[in-house]
Amino acid sequence: MSPKPVLIAQISDLHIKPPGVLAYGRVDTAAAFQRCVAALNAFTPKPDLVVISGDLADTPTAEEYDHLKRLFEPLKLPFVGIPGNHDSRQMMRAAFPLAAYAFPSGPLNQRLEIGGLDLLLLDSSVHGQPHGELDAPTLQWLDATLASSPERPALLFLHHPPFQTGIWHMDRQNLLNAGELASMVRRHPRVQLIATGHVHRATLAMFAGVPTTICPAPNHAVDLDLDHLREPSFRVEPPAFHLHSWFPGEGFGSVVTHQVFIGDFDGPHPFFGPDGKLL
Ligand SMILES: [Fe+2]
Repeated sequence: MSPKPVLIAQISDLHIKPPGVLAYGRVDTAAAFQRCVAALNAFTPKPDLVVISGDLADTPTAEEYDHLKRLFEPLKLPFVGIPGNHDSRQMMRAAFPLAAYAFPSGPLNQRLEIGGLDLLLLDSSVHGQPHGELDAPTLQWLDATLASSPERPALLFLHHPPFQTGIWHMDRQNLLNAGELASMVRRHPRVQLIATGHVHRATLAMFAGVPTTICPAPNHAVDLDLDHLREPSFRVEPPAFHLHSWFPGEGFGSVVTHQVFIGDFDGPHPFFGPDGKLL
C-alpha cells in the first residue's frame, strides 16, 4: 500500500466584515465562510491542516477579526494564516497570538513541519498597499530556512501571486519583487509548489520552474476580464478551495492539487451495478 499523503487544505480571501455587513454591499462573506467551514469539516479523509492564504479580514478592523474568530470556532481542523493586503499584521498577531511566528515583530512568516513535509508561510503584505513584496528579513529567513534542510520537500504559501494573470487590475498589484523570489527558488530545488491567493480564482502557472497556483475563494471571484473591458469587477462564481496532497516517494515525493467545490451536489453515484457492469 502506498504511504498516506499529507493533505493541506488551502482557503483564501475570506474578506470577513463586521457582523451583518456585506462586502461591496452585495456579498455575504461570513455566510460563504460558514459554508466553507462546513465543507472542510465534512471532507474525508480529514486534512492535516488548513492554510488561509491572506485577506482574512476586509478593512481591516479589530471587530472583523473578532467576527472571524467566532466564525472559525466550528472548524474541527488546525489552521494557520498569513496576511494579505486587506489584513493588518498587528491585528492578526493580536487575534492569533499562539501561532509560531518566525519573528517577534514585523512580517508574520511561519515554518511548519507536517510529517516529511515543510510548509513555509511568507508574509508578502505591505502596509497600506494592495501590491505584495517580500521584505529583506523575509527573504533572508526564507533563504536560511530553505538551506537548513535541503532534503525535505517544501511548499511555499504567500498571498500575492508572483506571475501575471492577464487580469489588468490584479497584475498591477501582484508580487512586486517576484524576480528575487524566482532566483531564490531556483537555488533551492526542494521547493515543490508555490501556493497563493489574492485573485479569488483557480489559476496555475509555472514560476521559476515550480508549479504555482492561485486558490479560489469561498465567496466571489475576480472577473476573468482578459480584455480590459470593464472597471475592476467581481462575479459570484462557484465557491471552492484547494487541497494539496503530498505523496512521499523518491526524491521530494509528489504534489497534486485538487479543486474542491463548496456546496451540495448530486452524487456520488456508482458507475457500476452489483453485476460489475456499467450502469
Ligand atoms: Fe488580496
